[in-house]
Amino acid sequence: MRIEAPRYTERFGAVRINEVQKVLELDSGRARKMSLHENIAVRKIEEDTLKDFEEKLAIVIPVRNEKLKLFEGVISGVPHECLTIVISNSDTEKVDRFRMEKDTLKQYCHFTRRNALIIHQKDPVVARALEAGGYTDILDEDGLVRNGKAEGMLLAMMISMMVKKQFIGFIDADNFFPGSVWEYVRCYAAGFSMAQSQYSMVRVVWRYKPKASAGMHFRKWGRVSEITNKCMNSLISVKTGFDTEIIKTGNAGEHAISLKLAEILPYASGYAVEPQEFVAIFEGFGGVLPLSHQTGAKQGVEVFQIETRNPHLHEDRGTDHLQGMLVPGLGAIYHSKLCDSDTKQLVINELAHQKAIQLEEEPTKPRTYRPPKVLNLKKFAAVVEEHMASYYALNGQ
Ligand code: GDD
Ligand code: MG
Repeated sequence: MRIEAPRYTERFGAVRINEVQKVLELDSGRARKMSLHENIAVRKIEEDTLKDFEEKLAIVIPVRNEKLKLFEGVISGVPHECLTIVISNSDTEKVDRFRMEKDTLKQYCHFTRRNALIIHQKDPVVARALEAGGYTDILDEDGLVRNGKAEGMLLAMMISMMVKKQFIGFIDADNFFPGSVWEYVRCYAAGFSMAQSQYSMVRVVWRYKPKASAGMHFRKWGRVSEITNKCMNSLISVKTGFDTEIIKTGNAGEHAISLKLAEILPYASGYAVEPQEFVAIFEGFGGVLPLSHQTGAKQGVEVFQIETRNPHLHEDRGTDHLQGMLVPGLGAIYHSKLCDSDTKQLVINELAHQKAIQLEEEPTKPRTYRPPKVLNLKKFAAVVEEHMASYYALNGQ
């Protein structure tokens, strides 16, 4: 794979945010020595290197009642070396959709000679394990894991910590193209292979996010991303004194994190989850507030933003209506301890302009969860391990 070298890096305390890097070539051929000057602007990441990182990478597919055909396509796009972890919150009553997902995964794993994990978010065993590990943050009144992709992500992080993966990447189950999925994972692996710190994150930028209406329009930026990125950039600019446009992936649902970093960040629920990751990194490592982690700060936190070749096309349920997605993300920025009065005003103006709030109103503060590291992993694992065989698509392996 050939990818642009990071041409510009913005620094905010111990955080290094790389400018968007474009994928130049999906397949860069056999391993060959690059000439020195070629190496300056372009990074060639050999297949073997990608595979080395994919081996350490868990790919999490959160799913809730998606079309089975889409789910099937998505799992087929995940490179062979990765461990696929499906966290499902699909219906189990009436039509047992979870069962259908499990069967599909099982069949796929059987014929492709690989294994994968599939866990239901409402599995009482998992809830018990969380309780045993002292992490009840994501449990609801019934004592089960709450609904939501973010809660599924947290559970997946804990499972990945347990099976000792080094990286975790997320891919929505409603992606239309298996080829896009394949490229996302390669971008994750490529990003981690370029990282100098063990505390790193890779976020995908779409070249195009087409809208299927009459004909197809290849849009680059959604309105939500535009506004979230603007406010996120303001959050940094005010502190550094220099305007910046470095953040292009405030809302990126498709992203990956090294587990070392993932386990020390606090998270938010709903659409605030991805913007909150940035906010948490800035708060913990930006150098303005007390550092949240010494080793992390010493190595620095590195963020890669990689632009894919494939367009991003996913189910459009009308859920990405502007306000529903915008308010939580901007709420995460607004309620950050880093947020100054100028950025607060910007957030209010943007939200009022979109008629999401009144001018004198504040966006609500998203629900937040403590970092996964506070979980007692041993106690959690002791409960989960007993049932582990039933979570593997192919039992007895
Ligand atoms: N495990 C689990 N539990 N998965 C869920 C749940 C749940 O309660 N709810 C939804 N999902 C799954 C969906 O099936 C899908 O695969 C993925 O999580 C994302 O949900 P969507 O409903 O498709 O989200 P979206 O398309 O509106 O938003 C996406 O883009 C946003 C902005 O880029 C998501 O990736 C968001 O996280 C992201 O903020
Ligand atoms: Mg979607």
